[in-house]
Amino acid sequence: MENITIPKHIGIIMDGNGRWAKKRMLPRNMGHKKGAEVFKDIARYCDDLGMEAVTFYAFSTENWKRPQDEVDGLMKLFKQYLIDAFDYEKYNNRIIFLGDKAAFNEELRNLMLEIEEKTAERDGMIINLALNYGSRDEIVHACKEIAEKVKAGDMSVEDISEESFSAHLYTKNQPDPEFILRPSGEKRISNFLLWQCAYSEFIYMDVLWPDFTRKDLDAAIAEFNKRNRRFGGV
Ligand code: IPE
Ligand code: IPE
Ligand code: MG
Repeated sequence: MENITIPKHIGIIMDGNGRWAKKRMLPRNMGHKKGAEVFKDIARYCDDLGMEAVTFYAFSTENWKRPQDEVDGLMKLFKQYLIDAFDYEKYNNRIIFLGDKAAFNEELRNLMLEIEEKTAERDGMIINLALNYGSRDEIVHACKEIAEKVKAGDMSVEDISEESFSAHLYTKNQPDPEFILRPSGEKRISNFLLWQCAYSEFIYMDVLWPDFTRKDLDAAIAEFNKRNRRFGGV
């Protein structure tokens, strides 16, 4: 990977777990289990490549409408990952959960807060895990926070700018993602980083997330390097 620019921040929509399981006549939750292992490996690889941040979309505000046994299986998997498989003690990553934590049970909420607190001072790559994340929800949440500050006299209407608005999003103080990667063949954003992706490149790949490898990420970065980004200029 010589002469290749490594992006500072990428967003990954981890999609295709269900189809991966279906192809193997396995329950959908087996796809999520395999997908979680791939998440762990790709996070390590992003760190090895020298990225500053990577955002993984793991559970959307819309995913609650799935069958109860699938949601229960996902919650169990998140808990297991938060307890032992996350390996956050071993590495220097800062871990941030994007999304409204209020929807999770107390045990999960406390685990998330504990991991965020324990890793808050670290200077390594940020791993953002989007859990109960919806970009529209994030934007509404930011609006409410700003409105409260204005009401309390801590902020004036003139202080509202693109920068100050960004600082109220779950991704505050982080660079926007240079590209958004979606495996599984779907070509849509599904309520992910709508504000932050204003100038992101979109890379769609046919591979299902549980089959995604480091080589696929190399291919996505190579594709990103071919793009001519103009940001409205010439
Ligand atoms: C992504 O895989 C994981 C979550 C949304 C939790 P899917 O479960 O959406 O997999 P497909 O799209 O049905 O294959
Ligand atoms: C997006 O995938 C959310 C995550 C990967 C967590 P979905 O599978 O939920 O999205 P749609 O329903 O295909 O748009
Ligand atoms: Mg899907």
